[in-house]
Amino acid sequence: MARSPFAPIIAPSILSADMTRLGEECEAVIDAGAEWIHFDVMDNHYVPNLTFGPPVCAALAKRLATSRPGIPIDVHLMCEPVDELIRGFAEAGAASITFHPEATRHVDRSLALARDLGCKTGLVFNPATSLEWLKYVLDKIDIIQIMSVNPGFGGQSFINESLGKIAEARDIVDMVVADTDREIRIEVDGGVKAANIADIYAAGADTFVAGSAIFGTDDYASTIAEMRRAIEAA
Ligand code: DX5
Ligand code: ZN
Repeated sequence: MARSPFAPIIAPSILSADMTRLGEECEAVIDAGAEWIHFDVMDNHYVPNLTFGPPVCAALAKRLATSRPGIPIDVHLMCEPVDELIRGFAEAGAASITFHPEATRHVDRSLALARDLGCKTGLVFNPATSLEWLKYVLDKIDIIQIMSVNPGFGGQSFINESLGKIAEARDIVDMVVADTDREIRIEVDGGVKAANIADIYAAGADTFVAGSAIFGTDDYASTIAEMRRAIEAA
């Protein structure tokens, strides 16, 4: 199976952080080795759960810009529609904004909007959503995000069929990035942990969202180090 040419990125999902200490929790996972902060936005409409909006992102971005400069906030919109929130989160300091293609009327326009506002962007694929959505928009995609659980909640079990889909995404990306300097990342979200991260990497992913598997442990640094060792050994 093909591996990603890009260095692995661990992106803890703040959904499982202690919300009363969000800033400290983000700094703790960054100090423990995380490269991105994954920011899950739920609207109780596209998914049956409700989290946080642009003001929380802006507060976090402001704090991290001083305390841990250069750490991207990766916003995952589980919301419908998306365009107004893309504007809000771009303004709030998001580095990347991904959304589900079923949640916008005009996928190409929403991708272009995020890009025009200076963010990286991409599409998120639910377990039953086909990668066909990529076909005509790959030129506007920085991230292909494969959901390995149904979106809406942290702490669910990894759906094993996702591995085949990751491999399919890898083939698509390898065809596009060959002989170019484009970086298209394959991000996997849901049920990722030290015990399965090697298989996910071997299938072709390079960006790993993990919420409960990191924030649910006492020692973030040793958990992230264990994940990295598993990737290196794969
Ligand atoms: C699920 C979210 C995920 C979630 C991951 O809808 O998009 O980012 O927080 O949580 P874990 O790693 O616990 O499955
Ligand atoms: Zn997510």
